Amino acid sequence: MSQPDWDDIPSNPSNTTPFNEVVAQLKGRRQFIKTGLGASALSFLGLGAGLLPTQIRAQTSTAPSSQTLGFGFEPLGPSTADAITLPKGYAHQVINRWGDPLFDYSPAFKGDATDGGAEQALQVGFNHDGMHFFPIDAQLGGGQSSTEGLLVTNHEYITPHFFFPEGVVPGNANWNGDWVLKSQHAQGASVVHMRLVDGRWQAVLDSPFNRSINATTPMRVVGPAAGHALMQTSADPSGQWAVGTFGNCGNGWTPWNTYLTCEENFTDYFGVGTQNPAQADYPDAATQAHMERYKGANKEASEDYRWDTHDSRFNWTQEPNEANRFGWIVEIDPFDPHSAPKKLAALGRFKHENAAWTLAPDQRVVVYMGDDQRSEYIYKFVSKNAFNPETPALNRLLLDEGVLYVAKFHGSTAQEEDLAGQGEWVALTLDTPTLDGKKLGDLFQDMGELLIKTRQAADAVGATPMDRPEWVAVHPQTKEVYTTLTNNSHRGSDKERWPNGLKHPTADGPNPRNENKYGQIVRWREQGADPTALRFEWDVFVLAGNPNVYEEGDSRRGSATITAQNTFNSPDGLAFDQQGRLWIQTDGNYSDRDEYLGQGNNSMLIANPASKEIHRFLVGPKGCEVTGITWTPDQRYVFINIQHPGEGQSIEDAQKQPNAVSTWPDGAQSTRPRPATVVIWREDGGQVGA
Ligand code: FEO
Ligand code: CA
Ligand code: CA
Ligand code: CA
Repeated sequence: MSQPDWDDIPSNPSNTTPFNEVVAQLKGRRQFIKTGLGASALSFLGLGAGLLPTQIRAQTSTAPSSQTLGFGFEPLGPSTADAITLPKGYAHQVINRWGDPLFDYSPAFKGDATDGGAEQALQVGFNHDGMHFFPIDAQLGGGQSSTEGLLVTNHEYITPHFFFPEGVVPGNANWNGDWVLKSQHAQGASVVHMRLVDGRWQAVLDSPFNRSINATTPMRVVGPAAGHALMQTSADPSGQWAVGTFGNCGNGWTPWNTYLTCEENFTDYFGVGTQNPAQADYPDAATQAHMERYKGANKEASEDYRWDTHDSRFNWTQEPNEANRFGWIVEIDPFDPHSAPKKLAALGRFKHENAAWTLAPDQRVVVYMGDDQRSEYIYKFVSKNAFNPETPALNRLLLDEGVLYVAKFHGSTAQEEDLAGQGEWVALTLDTPTLDGKKLGDLFQDMGELLIKTRQAADAVGATPMDRPEWVAVHPQTKEVYTTLTNNSHRGSDKERWPNGLKHPTADGPNPRNENKYGQIVRWREQGADPTALRFEWDVFVLAGNPNVYEEGDSRRGSATITAQNTFNSPDGLAFDQQGRLWIQTDGNYSDRDEYLGQGNNSMLIANPASKEIHRFLVGPKGCEVTGITWTPDQRYVFINIQHPGEGQSIEDAQKQPNAVSTWPDGAQSTRPRPATVVIWREDGGQVGA
């Protein structure tokens, strides 16, 4: 198998040139010769700002070229402190910790974690992840406020040894239905109205907007899978009303000011109740194949949840279709606290990480998404209809209907050598040809079934398996798309991959390391800079990790811009600020081992997309990951999340002493660490990162 020589891959033309010259360059290049880009994309950059939210203006404004991006802070090295570490001149505040009140009548958090299900429903959830700040005036289509807004935050999962009191372990003798309810109420998303008062951010506890959206919240299913036979359960014969959301990982938001929460590891919540898993039978071979494609051979719920013991809808032997109602992206209107969130079937069903939108020159909405499991795929959705700021009610329907595509990265095999660095999007529609000469319509009865089985459809057309696709981010000026491929311990191994019977693929162009521990960031440029294009060019932006573990000249060697000072592994969260700085958040497990060059705790770094310079901006407390990022419109405040501080000890040890690794954020007197949001600002009042 041939490996591309990284030095031969053309560097991003946007690195060094203004956008109009980029367009000219693109037009001159081999694969872009026939494109019609030009006037339409350029006029898009001048899109009228009057009716649009601040963030859209930011996405389309003329900003300094990446060459001149400022990084006005002294970069940090690695750290193992149990604290938030920031560059000189920056300050932070911890807000919205797990258990903090959502309402003025919420019960106070109990430090020994003895609060039950009813209390948790009135408190901030656990393990914060994706997040977005909606300026309070955004509901009217503006969105200027940088001092007041709705902060919507995902709560991905719970860590039982921190979340439950001593002696309570999912499934053990002390386990009961109320602990299940507590767990269900702590996952989903919270809406908290925040206001800046005398330089400190405060939750507005009597706000009508505050809300817990969790595993018990009723929601509508919209799009081609709504009402499908595979979506019907005994509690919902209509197949159109699902209950709850959980496993809420990364996020997105929309130009019409709704929030997107992405259901990731939903399969972990389904099991066989008190039955012996070895004796539990699948209802039929088709259900078995479908369930295994989404989880693997494991029939059991994760030992972290065990909802299946007290809530029969999580027992798949009783409700085999319930799991089909999860694995979607959910749209929430934070400004209407009584609205039912919508599960967006048109965007596909898989282990969603985040959702990054951009507008095409014709104003159709494009949403990029990754499926975070080893050797899974990257997708994009293109809406059928166009965004129009003057028809807000119609905008609300834009994600109900469109075409889902999956990415093929060429250059992975010797036969494809001359295609190295190119890629294509394959539509997941019924008339699309499969690798074996059929059509997707021969494999799936209708679009509902195809979307419920998105992974199987992507397998059939030969999508490229990637190293655990996490977040995607779109450059605000150039529209270049970046994605974190966090790691893939199984690439090149003989372990079984879940398209039944297959092994994990060996290293290829965008995934150049077998048993990849460190991860990489890959980027692509759509043909003609049009996000709806069917072809793209890609290259590897950075190979993370220890630059010294491979020989000089080895294509697996870490990127040249990685040093002992800024080394990191397992990139995960990813977002651009308005000027085009790329903010990278890490979720590595190996930080202090030698092979990781002493990378320290997980951190947040900022990259210059042009020069590939990377500066460490923040280091999190012990055992955490850093995830979720959003700014106030004036970019004077950045909000980030600290998820699972204190993880890393054995469950037995953690049960006995949950504060042994970390006591962040409450300090030495606290019995356990608490996930929380951190808001960061520059003491001189300037823009963060600049
Ligand atoms: Fe929830 Fe893929 O991280
Ligand atoms: Ca993640
Ligand atoms: Ca994680
Ligand atoms: Ca991760």
